[in-house]
Amino acid sequence: MATRPESGSVRIVTDQMPIEDSDPGCAAAGLGPGLYAQWRASMLGVMTERLERRTIIGLLGALAGRSVLDVGCGDGDLAIDLWERDARVTGIDASESMIAAARSRAQARRAEIAFEVAAAERLPFPDGHFERIAAVTILCFVEDAAPLLREMARVLRPGGRLVIGELGKWSSWAAARRIRGWLGSPLWRLGRFRTARELRALAEQAGLAVESLRGAIYYPRCAVLARWMAPLDARFSAMTTVGAAFLALAAVKPAPGPAAA
Ligand SMILES: C[S@@+](CC[C@H](N)C(=O)[O-])C[C@H]1O[C@@H](n2cnc3c(N)ncnc32)[C@H](O)[C@@H]1O
Repeated sequence: MATRPESGSVRIVTDQMPIEDSDPGCAAAGLGPGLYAQWRASMLGVMTERLERRTIIGLLGALAGRSVLDVGCGDGDLAIDLWERDARVTGIDASESMIAAARSRAQARRAEIAFEVAAAERLPFPDGHFERIAAVTILCFVEDAAPLLREMARVLRPGGRLVIGELGKWSSWAAARRIRGWLGSPLWRLGRFRTARELRALAEQAGLAVESLRGAIYYPRCAVLARWMAPLDARFSAMTTVGAAFLALAAVKPAPGPAAA
């Protein structure tokens, strides 16, 4: 799924996520569609995205015919993947340029996906509207994630499943990014890295029942080592979340009990 990087807008790309772009409309400072495309075109990007995607898709479970919301959908890559799995997909993002990129990618694939500019803190959907919600690496740019969790729980149907993918705190990737933030990277100055326990607490405080929490991406930010270690990722994941650059949580919205019904 890797595409060519856009020329002109790119300044630096060195990481699991791109670092700076000249996109002033981005909710996360300096993060734009051009850098995403460049990241996915790199060898490290291809390997890393594949492992993360496999984790997220696995946790989402059955998708065919399901209504799915991708919160912080970026340039639409996951949304298109979900649509290709026969889900009915809506994507929202606070960044106009990300949504424009998502629409144009979807159009090129003839994918019927509703993309909207919206803030995750105020989702423009009624209660219980979606059977599945995915939110991948959006909380890492949000200081207080609790309102987003509550809002996602609100629009999730009882019995529906939320899957969150986030940047793990105890990994070499997070350490390097923190250092970049201290050295002045505008993006990583804003970066938030969470532990598995923090993610679990956020979901539970929003009234969701956590089903699964696992790690991925145990290799350091180095393409040569990644190639060697990526096949071992599932084994590490079965053992611990410590060391994982990516954490994935699946939680279900409890259906109302007989008393509440
Ligand atoms: C790191 S990107 C991830 C994009 C996509 N989920 C992916 O994994 O490729 C984070 C995205 O979240 C969006 N975002 C950040 N804060 C947001 C908010 N409060 N509401 C909606 N979108 C937000 C950004 O504009 C950006 O597109």
